[in-house]
Amino acid sequence: MSLNPRYWKGLGRQVAPIGFGCWQLAGNYEVKGKPHGWGAMEPQDAVRLMHAALDQGIQFFDTAAGYGAGRSEELLGKALRSSTVAGEAVICTKVGLLPEEINALALGTAFRQRVEGSLSRIGTERIDVLLLHGPPDDMPWKDLDKWALDELVQEGKLGTYGISAVSLAGVENVLHAGFGTCVEWVFHLLERRPEKLFPRLQERGMNFIARSPLSRGLLSERYRLEAPQFRPDEFRSNLPRDWVQWSIEAMRRIPAPGNNIAEHALRYCLSFEGMSVVIPGVRTPKQLESLERVRRSGPVAHGQLKAMFQGIPVHYPAWT
Ligand SMILES: NC(=O)c1ccc[n+]([C@@H]2O[C@H](COP(=O)([O-])OP(=O)(O)OC[C@H]3O[C@@H](n4cnc5c(N)ncnc54)[C@H](OP(=O)(O)O)[C@@H]3O)[C@@H](O)[C@H]2O)c1
Repeated sequence: MSLNPRYWKGLGRQVAPIGFGCWQLAGNYEVKGKPHGWGAMEPQDAVRLMHAALDQGIQFFDTAAGYGAGRSEELLGKALRSSTVAGEAVICTKVGLLPEEINALALGTAFRQRVEGSLSRIGTERIDVLLLHGPPDDMPWKDLDKWALDELVQEGKLGTYGISAVSLAGVENVLHAGFGTCVEWVFHLLERRPEKLFPRLQERGMNFIARSPLSRGLLSERYRLEAPQFRPDEFRSNLPRDWVQWSIEAMRRIPAPGNNIAEHALRYCLSFEGMSVVIPGVRTPKQLESLERVRRSGPVAHGQLKAMFQGIPVHYPAWT
């Protein structure tokens, strides 16, 4: 039995719950003088990886205008155009807000142009899900003049829209305001606070997109014995050391039958009804095979998985 697709009210269709995070495909780049990518990747390898993902039934692809200054979007577009099974794909991308848009609480022509930029880089007539990338947590969503967003939906250039939040407070604010139809935030074995929001999200008919489901790749068997060492050219070299240390120690206390904590971590996310899609970042064909094993093994009872981390904190205590 494989995993059931989840219904997306904003799209009016079912979507497979294992998706694909495309940040990892963006190659090396910097933001404010610091590495922000996941290391070099040849474009043909990235396209091959996405073709294999599409072939194994993955539908939801999460990218952003900011991933490698549009490189990830371009590669996604290239992969979709050259695949014979791209018809079912769901394109999710993100654009940030300008300080003046935040101050004026208004999205206008400049916002439209940025969305048109994403459409053109992906080479598509429609973005299924557009997320506003990391807006302030306390945005007064009800006061936002969003005619440009609504116009893009009416024109069929956008399927639906939502928010990729900075912190949990941002998710709660979006949920409270009922802005858009979906929200993306962190969710994994060592950051389980979103669980409490799932019933309310479901009540409101909003979809939840779980990013970082492998805790930036720290939920990996390779770190049971060895300490993580990140290349200086990847963004993880700048992760807070205390958090990495805490995560590794906590991960080592979680038993994972079959020695595959990454797969159990994904099964855990998928064991919630309120979970619409998980978007692990994938860098290798082997990691993709792992997703296929999770899909094929089908749903696992939540209670069975929950027993795995008795005594493990719900989240990193220093992040309130
Ligand atoms: N603000 C935002 O909107 C935002 C922020 C973060 C992420 N995202 C989205 O969420 C996606 C995923 O989140 P993330 O980038 O934080 O990373 P993640 O999914 O938590 O971790 C990805 C890393 O996990 C490792 N991995 C993948 N499959 C594995 C397996 N089967 N076994 C062991 N390790 C495995 C790989 O690490 P190695 O590279 O070491 O092999 C990979 O790079 C991104 O691609 C992006 O689309 C959005």
